[in-house]
Amino acid sequence: MALFEVRDLAVSFATPAGEVDAVAGIDLEVAEGECLALVGESGSGKSQALLACLGLLAANGRARGEVRFDGRSVLGLPERELGRLRGAGIGYVFQDAPGSLTPHLRIGDQLSEALRCHHDVDDATARAEARRMLERVQVPDAAARLRQYPHELSGGTRQRAAIAAALMPRPRLLIADEPTTALDVTVQAQVIALFRELRRELGMALVVVTHDLGVVAGLAERVAVMYSGRIVEEGATTGVLSRPAHPYTSGLLAALPRLDDPTGVPMRTIPGTPPAPGERPRGCAFAPRCDRVHDRCRNVVPALAAAAHGRVACHRPLAGAPA
Ligand SMILES: Nc1ncnc2c1ncn2[C@@H]1O[C@H](COP(=O)(O)OP(=O)(O)OP(=O)(O)O)[C@@H](O)[C@H]1O
Ligand code: SF4
Ligand SMILES: [Mg+2]
Repeated sequence: MALFEVRDLAVSFATPAGEVDAVAGIDLEVAEGECLALVGESGSGKSQALLACLGLLAANGRARGEVRFDGRSVLGLPERELGRLRGAGIGYVFQDAPGSLTPHLRIGDQLSEALRCHHDVDDATARAEARRMLERVQVPDAAARLRQYPHELSGGTRQRAAIAAALMPRPRLLIADEPTTALDVTVQAQVIALFRELRRELGMALVVVTHDLGVVAGLAERVAVMYSGRIVEEGATTGVLSRPAHPYTSGLLAALPRLDDPTGVPMRTIPGTPPAPGERPRGCAFAPRCDRVHDRCRNVVPALAAAAHGRVACHRPLAGAPA
């Protein structure tokens, strides 16, 4: 049985223009200790899908479908129960992680509370653990930082403190939404190494949202690619990254800068932009940007079907062409 299971999850928002579907029915599965990466262009629904799983949508949002953690149904749980689940069950590093720290509490108090809320430890142990965790996320002069308030820290340090706060209760699953975006390259690598270590030490499972395919390759056994509210390809990372079956995945990979690119050549991008949630075309949402499009694509939404290394939602998948 998977530790975390999402079935046919849909997220819609009530807007002045009517109800829009930000997530149009997705399935995800994460086994104990496993890492799944979620990738896709801005606005594809990655954050809202994950926020919905923990009852964290904005007031105008609504989630439907099934979300199970450790066999237990999560969607619709009362706030008290969700509060218990967040933390020691599922840790969350928000996309705006620095902003998720409580402004009027010292870092040391926030971190030790995060542990004491979920585990029976005394204050001195919690404070020692808080300092150790800050050191593990490479916060310099951790002892001094514990006495400071969030606004006294630089953006990068706040980001690391927020990651530390999510890790303090030693969650069985960590959901990390763009955890390394605000960090410089060296610290990014250290945070990735820390996640890898914690997975080994604690058997922690991880869902990581990232734009960085280097992070995907370095951390995740499996990857799911989202486009306009749906998963269009998912499977083993090595297979998906080396032989993508969906034209969109292939485009994302082709857009990556390469070391052998001649200087002065503009970066490749996928022409066009994704449709807004309320303006999705009738068939495949990628059709207006796809160079393999044919009639069926414009009329019928492709379902996820078995591919060489996982599943793909495309009427004319690539035959595992090397990226
Ligand atoms: N409260 C809201 N009301 C209406 N629409 C919303 C609301 N919150 C998010 N959306 C819309 O939901 C869609 C999906 O947003 P989401 O934040 O999940 O994107 P994302 O894939 O995480 O993008 P990014 O990579 O930029 O973080 C977007 O079109 C966004 O505008
Ligand atoms: S279904 Fe058609 S339009 Fe969509 S990605 Fe596949 S080939 Fe392209
Ligand atoms: Mg997001």
